[in-house]
Amino acid sequence: MDNFMFYSPTRFLFGKGEENQVGTMCAQYGAKKVMLVYGGGSVVRSGLLERVKSSLDKAGIPYCELSGIKPNPRLSSVYEGIQLGREQGVDFLLGVGGGSAIDAAKGIAVGILYEGDVWDLYKAGAEVPVSLPVGCVITLAATGTEGSASSVLTNEETNEKCGAKGDLLRPVFSIMNPELTCTLPAYQTACGVTDIMMHIIDRYFTNSKDTFVVDEISEALLRTVIKYGPIALEHPDDYNARAQIMWAGTLAHNNLCGVGREQDWSNHGIQAPIGGLYDSAHGAGLATVCPAWMLYVYKHDIPRFVRWATNVWGVENDVYDPEGVALEGIRRTKEFFKRMGMPVTLAELGVKDEDLEYLSKGRACGNFVKLSGDDIRAILELAR
Ligand code: NZQ
Ligand code: ZN
Repeated sequence: MDNFMFYSPTRFLFGKGEENQVGTMCAQYGAKKVMLVYGGGSVVRSGLLERVKSSLDKAGIPYCELSGIKPNPRLSSVYEGIQLGREQGVDFLLGVGGGSAIDAAKGIAVGILYEGDVWDLYKAGAEVPVSLPVGCVITLAATGTEGSASSVLTNEETNEKCGAKGDLLRPVFSIMNPELTCTLPAYQTACGVTDIMMHIIDRYFTNSKDTFVVDEISEALLRTVIKYGPIALEHPDDYNARAQIMWAGTLAHNNLCGVGREQDWSNHGIQAPIGGLYDSAHGAGLATVCPAWMLYVYKHDIPRFVRWATNVWGVENDVYDPEGVALEGIRRTKEFFKRMGMPVTLAELGVKDEDLEYLSKGRACGNFVKLSGDDIRAILELAR
């Protein structure tokens, strides 16, 4: 196990009705003027926004609002929020909704204090030097942004999708009521489950040795979402399934599964320009990339893929045919995404062959196997 520092400072309030504490929590973190940041209307329709506002009113905390944050949140919305926040003297950002609303809130929190162009930080994948505190009420189990040290934005002028990082981006509190995820369309539920799995996969395949404890935690979280994902699809109102998935999603991306080892991030790296160019759902893009990536790299460490197959998917081990076991694990991974209703080819996602050059040329990512632009191109060909 490698040396590490683990820092997960977020206060999580989990369970039914916890959103009614949002005003008290903002007060506890010294908020004097809040900006509420939310998406295209799901939080209005569900009545959540009204409950959040009434909780802020009760706590005597004034607020302004920025609505209409799109999936794959746009840089222009963040600029708008920065201007509004500066005009209104906002000192606390409250994201209400999915990962996109919360990532936009994070970008605004940085941008209000940052003297340069906030996009420069995202474009460089830089550590953010300043940020106002951010809290959130999350309505989609997927990105782990409720505990993560990152925020991802799309620059719609250049079609680039980039992420900034840093512990200042970890929310000071996150309110997680699994009931709020029961209204999700099946496709978003499945994208969320896929994203949760990918946050673990992009850490699990590693060249670091003796990572037993984080491997075991990772596999348990994976088995959790593999068990409860299909249940949530079949029974969207199943509180227990929603709750298991939601907490697994947080633990998948607060770096609990990443410490003590070199992390890979190939799948996210390959997916990012696809999301930027096509505005496709993050989880769906990952589902198309992952099986192809696995097929491309598994020979680098067949025992690792055997462990993946046996411990995550319950494939029976065969010491005389480790490669067959590894391949069965990869097959089941793809089958699961399919069963969840995810696209598993780039064609299904709508990616055009003529864009493969742009999506691969001059790019590089990965640590498990370091991938050049040519490798990425080969993976995209496999994913077609
Ligand atoms: O906009 P509204 O009306 O709220 O609708 C949203 C949106 O259309 C809807 N939705 C959310 N909660 C709902 C709901 N509909 C019904 N009931 C609910 N309870 O779902 C749609 C998708 O929402 P979005 O926020 O875009 O989804 P998600 O949470 O998957 O976030 C995706 C974004 O997060 C980034 C992705 O790249 C993408 O931009 N990520 C952020 C990470 C981070 N900050 O740590 C890590 C991830 O790897 C990821 O990159
Ligand atoms: Zn992700």
